[in-house]
Amino acid sequence: KPDGLTATPPMGWSSWNRFAAAIDDRTVRQIADHLVSSGLRDAGYTYVNIDDGWQGTRGPDGAIRPNARFPDMKALADYVHARRLKIGIYSSPGPKTCAGFTGSYGHVAQDAKTYAAWGFDYLKYDLCSGEGIYRTAAQVKLAYQQMGQALRATGRPIVYSLCQYGRDRVGTWGRDVGGHLWRTTGDIEDTYASMAAIGFDKDGDPANAGPGGWNDPDMLEVGNGGMSEDEYRTHMTLWAMQAAPLMLGNDLRTMSPATIALLENRGVIAIDQDVKGAQGRRIRKDGDAEIWAKPLADGSVAVALFNRGTTPREIRFEAEDAGLRRIGTLTDVWAGVPDNAARRAWTVPAHGAMLVRVKG
Ligand code: GLA
Repeated sequence: KPDGLTATPPMGWSSWNRFAAAIDDRTVRQIADHLVSSGLRDAGYTYVNIDDGWQGTRGPDGAIRPNARFPDMKALADYVHARRLKIGIYSSPGPKTCAGFTGSYGHVAQDAKTYAAWGFDYLKYDLCSGEGIYRTAAQVKLAYQQMGQALRATGRPIVYSLCQYGRDRVGTWGRDVGGHLWRTTGDIEDTYASMAAIGFDKDGDPANAGPGGWNDPDMLEVGNGGMSEDEYRTHMTLWAMQAAPLMLGNDLRTMSPATIALLENRGVIAIDQDVKGAQGRRIRKDGDAEIWAKPLADGSVAVALFNRGTTPREIRFEAEDAGLRRIGTLTDVWAGVPDNAARRAWTVPAHGAMLVRVKG
């Protein structure tokens, strides 16, 4: 039964894309502070997730302990909670995590209890080093189910993020094991090629996504410097159209006003967070031009026009493309202003995107 934790896709920040395993307590606290001061918390980004790299060794009782960069996990969770934010942690069903830290193998229930006692609200569970142990799809599913049950048994509401790269048709059983989101792909990199390969083609089956459980095409790279502003706008537009979890992956302490503008656009976030929970789909492709549509709860439709080519290009759509008989009103979502409802064609920059909200 749905627990209401992810009625819309989760939003927050995760340490991995920018800091990898070099994350520490002080940085996490500063990020929490900047989520508040930048306005991003109030735009909806509420989870502060520590990814791989926090783990130390197990104590004599078998309990996992953080490493020297994290002196006191409970105090850190309290600090984050005091800012009206939530906090996330990371582990693996295998003996080791992807970056070689201690995993949860043999300690599943104990680790779940530890995370709950520290006050964690989110777990990303990443299948690394378990290949020899979890050989079949059924074994993988069972491993995820065991942690799902262990989390539930703690009595603490904890968002459960499955990460096994979209293998074993995870989208068809992610919910059954208690999962709230499941990765559909390998790791994103901060390049247009990587982002586009995932965003246009490895976003998962829309049939599996909806309130309570979401396809996860990986965390955002916006603001990390490897893409142009138009490319980052495409990144945000694709993720919003797909009702993807929006996990910031940049250093919030040093981001530019342009980066904040890309991340906090209320109209774009509203499309991602729309309560209908439909994952948008590609409805037309003509060479480098793609049109995607996402039906929204108020009966309007989000329509995204993407130019995957390297020169500007005019892209046109008609009401029927959006499943509408006519176009009543039309909003340019990124600009946040009404557009001419008679208009049907836009010039979209190279690697860029145009996003409109259409009412019939
Ligand atoms: C895998 C995951 C990444 C990150 C790293 C941490 O590669 O896909 O998102 O969590 O592990 O080691």
